Amino acid sequence: MQLDALLAEIKDGVLPVHVGIIMDGNGRWAKSRGLPRLEGHRQGALAAERIVRFVAKENLFPYLTLFAFSTENWSRPKAEVEGIFRLLEEFLREKADELVESGVKLLVIGDHSRLPDGLREAIRELEERTSRNRGLTLAIALNFGGKWAILRAVRDLLRAARSVAFGPEEVREELFRAYLPTGELPDMDLLIRTGGRLRVSNFLLWELAYAELYFTDTLWPDFTEEDLLLALKDFQGRERSFGGVR
Ligand code: FPP
Repeated sequence: MQLDALLAEIKDGVLPVHVGIIMDGNGRWAKSRGLPRLEGHRQGALAAERIVRFVAKENLFPYLTLFAFSTENWSRPKAEVEGIFRLLEEFLREKADELVESGVKLLVIGDHSRLPDGLREAIRELEERTSRNRGLTLAIALNFGGKWAILRAVRDLLRAARSVAFGPEEVREELFRAYLPTGELPDMDLLIRTGGRLRVSNFLLWELAYAELYFTDTLWPDFTEEDLLLALKDFQGRERSFGGVR
C-alpha cells in the first residue's frame, strides 16, 4: 500500500497519545556491513530524525519518548559512550532551529549529572527555547532507567512529606505520578521495540503499565515512516480493556 493511503487510513482510526520507542539494533546494523558500531549509531540518529520529523509534520500523536541511553549503557566501551553523546549533542545543536520552528517541545529525562558539559548545555538551551511550544512533546530518555526514575520519585516524595508534612495515606497514584520525570506526560499507549529482542530493558516502567507492546525485527537504522505506520495499524487492531472486560 502507498504511504499516503496507509497514512490516511491510520489517521481515520484511534491513535495513541503517547508512543515510546526502544531504538535497538544499531550495533548489529553496523556489524552486518563491516562498519564500526558508531556508524550504526550515526544512522540511528538519522532514523530518529526521520521519525520525529514525520510525527511532528503529520501530527500523528502528541507525545513521543525515545530511549537513547540507559543507566546500564555505561558498561559499553568508553569510545562508544562518548560517540553516542557526541551524536546527541550534534543532533540537538544542528536540529535546534527546525525543532523550535516545527513546534516541538523537548524534554530530556534521565540523570543529567554524569553527562558531558557540552551536551548538558545543549539540552538546557533547547529545553528552554522549546518550552513554550505546543506541538509534539519529544522526550529523550538519556542516562535513564525506569528503576532510577521510581527511586528518585520516592526520595523526592519523602523529602516533600517531611517539609510539607503529609502522611503515607495521602500518597495516591496521581501524587506519586507527578514526581516521576515524566510528570507532564500521560502514561504510554504503545511501546515499539526494534531489533528483535522481546524485553523492556528498564525503560519507563510505571508509565507502560497498560501499554500495548509492539516488537519488530527491523534494526533501528532501517526503521522508516512506513514501519511506524505499520506499528500504529497493529495498535489499532488491539482490544484495550485496561484490566476490565470488553
Ligand atoms: C541501541 O543499539 C542503541 C543505542 C544504545 C543508542 C541509541 C542512540 C541513538 C540512536 C543516537 C541518537 C538518538 C537521538 C534521539 C538523536 P545497540 O547498540 O544496542 O544495538 P545492538 O543491540 O545491535 O548492539
